[in-house]
Amino acid sequence: MRDFLKRLPKAELHLHIEGSLEPELMFALAERNGVALPYASVEEVRAAYDFSDLQSFLDLYFQGMSVLRTAEDFHDLAMDYFTRAHAEGVVHIEMHVDPQAHIARGVELAAVMEGLGRARRRAERELGMSTALILAFLRDRPAEEAMAVLESAAPYWELLDAVGLDSAERGNPPSKFVEVFERARRLGIPRVAHAGEEGPPEYIREALDQLDVCRIDHGVRCLEDSDLVARLRDEAVVLTVCPLSNVRLKVVETMAEHPFPQLLDAGLMLTINSDDPAYFGGGMLDNFLACHEAFGWSEEVFVTLASSAIEAAFVSDERREELR
Ligand code: ADE
Ligand code: ZN
Repeated sequence: MRDFLKRLPKAELHLHIEGSLEPELMFALAERNGVALPYASVEEVRAAYDFSDLQSFLDLYFQGMSVLRTAEDFHDLAMDYFTRAHAEGVVHIEMHVDPQAHIARGVELAAVMEGLGRARRRAERELGMSTALILAFLRDRPAEEAMAVLESAAPYWELLDAVGLDSAERGNPPSKFVEVFERARRLGIPRVAHAGEEGPPEYIREALDQLDVCRIDHGVRCLEDSDLVARLRDEAVVLTVCPLSNVRLKVVETMAEHPFPQLLDAGLMLTINSDDPAYFGGGMLDNFLACHEAFGWSEEVFVTLASSAIEAAFVSDERREELR
């Protein structure tokens, strides 16, 4: 099964590029940029990745990205992940990026976009991999700040495949960002949002009704609301599920208790994703393998899930045909 899952062409729709920063690269960039880290070794970093919830992860995630300062750093970060993912049979990657987390540290948006742009072109040229870029807003920051970031990203609107909504979910409902997402809609930029990871099913409803999103990131808590499940099924809304992330952030206790099988039984459109592979114990292949081990799914189930990701990807008709 490992060989089959590795060979299966996989599209990843839910990845935070900053969450792909492996401890080894974190140390290399810290040295290159003269940034002090509160860890003595790579082993110490990995040992610190013992999370109790989303916020306890976010604290280390924001601390880790402090080593990213220049366009070259963002290029190296993305190429490091693209190369690893390519070796696992990933053929398309849609990455969230959190500009506010960099701007707040004095890193210009131009450096972020230039570095990621160079890595994207290189991945296409050297790895035959397509990529998409999702500009994400930090939902625990004010909506006005998100709007200012969207406006300041005007030189890059053409490069954006979507805007997204991430970071601390509880207490930060999608409705807080109605105006920002409406602005994106009028600019013709597609929309996605994290909802129903730690937050209630109502946030999924709000993301659909008030932000007009085409996909829900995570969405696993929809199962608490049977009307919502029926709606997600009828409207064929894609959920980008991240199994290992859900276990590591204690959304569920173990893979065996992960609700993926119930979501499948409900007839939903589902995809498997890694979220923050450097922090959650593995990339796409590890997530596929964890599902195999926990649920004993046949090859056919994985083919269906991989195919759903290709159908839901932000790619041209020509590229989708190549990926099929
Ligand atoms: N940012 C990075 N990873 C995240 C996650 N799993 N949920 C919300 N925001 C995030
Ligand atoms: Zn995420």
